[in-house]
Amino acid sequence: QEPGLIDRFGRRITYVRLSVTDRCDLRCVYCMSEKMTFLPRSQLLTLEETARLGRCFSELGVTKLRITGGEPLVRPNVIWLFEQLGQLGTLRDLTLTTNATQLGRYAQALKDAGVTRINISLDTLDPERFRKITRVGEIEKTLGGLDAALRVGFRKIKLNTVVLKNRNHDEVGDLVRFAIDRGIDISFIEEMPLGVIGDHDRAEAYYSSDAIRQDLEAHFQLLPTIEVTGGPSKYYRVAGEETRVGFISPHSHNFCGDCNRVRVTAEGRLLLCLGQEHSVDLRRALRGNPTEDERVKKAIIAAMDIKPRGHDFDLQAKPIIFRHMNMTGG
Ligand code: GTP
Ligand code: 5AD
Ligand code: SF4
Repeated sequence: QEPGLIDRFGRRITYVRLSVTDRCDLRCVYCMSEKMTFLPRSQLLTLEETARLGRCFSELGVTKLRITGGEPLVRPNVIWLFEQLGQLGTLRDLTLTTNATQLGRYAQALKDAGVTRINISLDTLDPERFRKITRVGEIEKTLGGLDAALRVGFRKIKLNTVVLKNRNHDEVGDLVRFAIDRGIDISFIEEMPLGVIGDHDRAEAYYSSDAIRQDLEAHFQLLPTIEVTGGPSKYYRVAGEETRVGFISPHSHNFCGDCNRVRVTAEGRLLLCLGQEHSVDLRRALRGNPTEDERVKKAIIAAMDIKPRGHDFDLQAKPIIFRHMNMTGG
């Protein structure tokens, strides 16, 4: 039995987010700049390399893998990766974070590959607002993707809503109602300052989780739960319903003390914290040791010693992290 991954603060790492691309078919204002340059294909890990990493992590005691981007479903042949990871015997969860635009095409294949849960980004139910927040998107595609996931039998679906003051904060009740009607969960997210975005002021757009919860309590009874999915959401159950409402509150309720996760960027950089630069080049470890997984695993174990205590996000200051969320893997 491997010793598993434990950092200097005694936190056990059981959740890894693997990004497969920095590209996306949308341009959400909190995630990207209007004009983005994307990585050249040659810098990305191959899907074989990502699958190899997934295996290494699972052998180190990781039980939950999440595929992220950018938008993971724009990566050609990404279904092959899900199929490989779905065959790892030791995973409890194989999950995906997506904007859902391609789910009409891929939902069935993802189900067949063994994906257990899907998180779908949806910030508004209004087509005009959707266009404004995503800069280029059409809401019908995303809603159609969600329907496709439900149709092929996914039940564990969570909506992710980044709440922005004066853009969608008045819709949180409608979004919870939308989730209840479909028997799915929803998390509200406080925006994180990753990368500089010219036309978007994050301090101005801040809307706290407590404010959202107060707004919701006018319409729903929210019962605190101790349920965990292994992610940063703090969940409440809507009284009398299946739906859970989660709050991801990096600013108002820091959750770094319970951190159980690391992420790998599309270039193969192991990021020890979403809000810090500490990282290890796993692409080099993979390519330098094409057949020896033990070496790769050693590099991963050694990286635990540089996992920082937590982020230092400050919405009032200039961002200290220059990579955007699409480079980070959410
Ligand atoms: P579940 O497995 O459903 O709990 O998923 P999740 O909430 O871990 O992942 P998801 O991809 O749905 O991400 C939701 C939001 O949580 C995104 O905005 C992520 O950036 C944020 N998030 C996930 N992990 C971390 C973390 O370690 N630190 C911070 N600050 N935010 C995180
Ligand atoms: N702050 C918080 N959440 C963000 N996301 C993208 N950019 C940011 C940000 N700056 C969300 C997306 C998606 C999830 C992976 O991260 O909406 O749901
Ligand atoms: Fe694309 Fe997701 Fe970023 Fe929106 S938040 S631009 S959907 S990667």
